[in-house]
Amino acid sequence: MPDNNIEAYIEESREEVERLNSGVKDFAVFDFNHIPDKPLIREEVRKIIDVLVKYHQTGIPRHIVIGGPRGSGKTLTLKYLAKTFSRKLSLPFYAANCRVHNTSFKALAHMLKVRPRGYSYSELCCKFEEQIPGKAVIVLDEVDLLSEKDFRKDILYFLSRSVRRFNVVLLSNNPKFVNTLDESTRSSLQPDLLLFRNYSAHEVLEILRDRATAGLHSWDDALLAEIAALTAKNTNSDIRVAIKTLLYVMTHEANSVADCFERARHDIMGDMLQNLNDKALLVLRSAMDEPTGFVKQVYTRYCQLSRAMGEDPYSYYYFYSNLAFLQSVGLLLLVSAKVDRAYTNRIHPLVSKEQIDAVMTARFRIE
Ligand SMILES: Nc1ncnc2c1ncn2[C@@H]1O[C@H](COP(=O)(O)OP(=O)(O)O)[C@@H](O)[C@H]1O
Ligand SMILES: [Mg+2]
Repeated sequence: MPDNNIEAYIEESREEVERLNSGVKDFAVFDFNHIPDKPLIREEVRKIIDVLVKYHQTGIPRHIVIGGPRGSGKTLTLKYLAKTFSRKLSLPFYAANCRVHNTSFKALAHMLKVRPRGYSYSELCCKFEEQIPGKAVIVLDEVDLLSEKDFRKDILYFLSRSVRRFNVVLLSNNPKFVNTLDESTRSSLQPDLLLFRNYSAHEVLEILRDRATAGLHSWDDALLAEIAALTAKNTNSDIRVAIKTLLYVMTHEANSVADCFERARHDIMGDMLQNLNDKALLVLRSAMDEPTGFVKQVYTRYCQLSRAMGEDPYSYYYFYSNLAFLQSVGLLLLVSAKVDRAYTNRIHPLVSKEQIDAVMTARFRIE
């Protein structure tokens, strides 16, 4: 392309992009942080509403842990409730995502909107009790990702013991999260456990229809049903894959719906891999190398690989709970298998070797 034709080329490119995107009315509804005006409300949400309404009236909290696989609407539900409760009942919500704010200290500082430097942990706790006015709901999203260094999970102990009687809501992809807490925290929290099951294909379809209505000029219902079916069958009903597939189909990212679906799933798995900590990444990588897939053998490989990478390996106990976490985010499957009359678990990774190696190479600077 001759240099002097750049302007013409920009114009040509702009027209092409406009043509490809012409089916989309509003890209914002395809953003994962988008909060729909009327999200699909699952039955379990009533229970959360009942608890919080009671808290608003009596000031007596009942803490809740919400578990459920990735893409089952935990984050969205709490964001939507936060908006609605503060509008209808002036009950404020304070939230921190523990993936980002991964220690008790950082999570408190984030909710107080102060920089973590310059305070001690106990000063921050006092400040929190002084500054948050009246009754308040405290939401810790992805609470299972609080750093292992924060092994006593002090923030949970503090919130559950505080004289201010906040109502705590914890969200976790790992439904067994509560079992990992120490006894004193667990007994002072005494949370009710609520499980968000996977959406059915029908619910995925409803959610897609809602996005299509808000974000597209026109669409074909059979297409939405096809995406919903693929998502329910192949991803544990991760709505994010469905929403991304719809966007890819509408913007002609690939030729067929099946190809768009594969691409969306690949992209979302890639994001998830990027977000894993080093240890979890090594666990997953070791599972790829072990032909039998048996948990014990994978653990041996994992210890070898960790040492080769200069990382301290997890104890077997933490290794095992990490497998449950990796399963909950859809990166592997644990399947029970019978060997010599005993049962053991076999690991099936759900990502490709190429994809994980790309992340490992960047992370560990392997040549
Ligand atoms: N009930 C729902 N109605 C509308 N959109 C939903 C619903 N549940 C999930 N979504 C959408 O699916 C995506 C994933 O939901 P999210 O709340 O992040 O799941 P989780 O926190 O359980 O991993 C988000 O883009 C969200 O807006
Ligand atoms: Mg979430």
